[in-house]
Amino acid sequence: MRVLGIESSCDETGVALVDASGAGVPRLLGQALHSQIAMHQAYGGVVPELASRDHIRRVLPLLSEVLAQAQCQLSAIDVVAYTRGPGLAGALLVGAGVACALAASLGRPALGVHHLEGHLLSPFLSADPPEFPFVALLVSGGHTQLMRVEGVGRYELLGETIDDAAGEAFDKSAKLLGLPYPGGPHLARLAEGGDAQAFKLPRPLLHSGDLDFSFAGLKTAVLTQVQKLGDALEARKSDLAASTQAAIVEVLLKKSLKALAQTGLDRLVVAGGVGANAMLRRQLDAACRAQGVRVHYPELALCTDNGAMIALAAGMRLQAGLAVPDRRYSFEVRPRWGLAEMAA
Ligand code: KG4
Ligand code: ZN
Repeated sequence: MRVLGIESSCDETGVALVDASGAGVPRLLGQALHSQIAMHQAYGGVVPELASRDHIRRVLPLLSEVLAQAQCQLSAIDVVAYTRGPGLAGALLVGAGVACALAASLGRPALGVHHLEGHLLSPFLSADPPEFPFVALLVSGGHTQLMRVEGVGRYELLGETIDDAAGEAFDKSAKLLGLPYPGGPHLARLAEGGDAQAFKLPRPLLHSGDLDFSFAGLKTAVLTQVQKLGDALEARKSDLAASTQAAIVEVLLKKSLKALAQTGLDRLVVAGGVGANAMLRRQLDAACRAQGVRVHYPELALCTDNGAMIALAAGMRLQAGLAVPDRRYSFEVRPRWGLAEMAA
């Protein structure tokens, strides 16, 4: 069973093909990605209308690239999957529209996929895939959640952010430091040469006793420091970046350890764009090793949005008998959509 996946929820157009035959983890046959970062950079953030138009331009050429890589004809595709949500409505509609039109023209079923389920399962494509059950730390630009994952579609929300996501905290702080969009990787790079103890920044909800997060206050604290520093900012930028990153990473680390202790599980899966952060990986690796916990990450290239995770999530759902792809070819996207609603 060959499953095509199309991702278009935000600023990356991704297309990929997996082989989901049998019961093993679906095998990636080909993938192609186009990032819109350069296009949106001039505006300091994603411009939704430009994103939708660019997805339209990119998706079919990317599909041709994937088929060439996989040495496979269009007619060999058995199911066409696409990101149904959450994400930008217009951007989602492009992927859904193309997927359903393609599926209809091939006489194959189409299947809408949850973007966060794609992130969550993406470590299964890594060289060191996890086994169920595990605790998942989902850290993307729009979401920060801890979940207990028993199997495909068996997700229990343990805690989440009550305001900004971790990626948003990186991005907004980076913007205050005058860094280009998307700020996360730029801030991380700047932080490498800085002193993480230089500024005392808040660790919101660190001792709240639950597994929720709050990052909005951190951004305000960074703004206060930027204003206080004034002209001195330039000289202290890397220290402030390092202190900001340390605050975000400490909260993510402590809450992940708490979730592991609370559930009694000994496996952690980290997914989503912030999962690419080197300091987060280093600290999680060290803390988990000390506690006998295995940690799994997606390959670096699959941390941020991509088509492979969408094809994979569709393939794993189909293998588990949890998804019914249909031939109605009518579609509805879900810009706001909690992963817990996908629970089997
Ligand atoms: O998962 P993703 O590609 O998109 C969403 O579904 O939101 O995550 C994008 C987020 C952005 O906030 C970006 O700044 C952040 O991931 N990010 C990073 C790093 N790479 C990407 N944040 C910190 N350190 C990084 N190395
Ligand atoms: Zn994402």
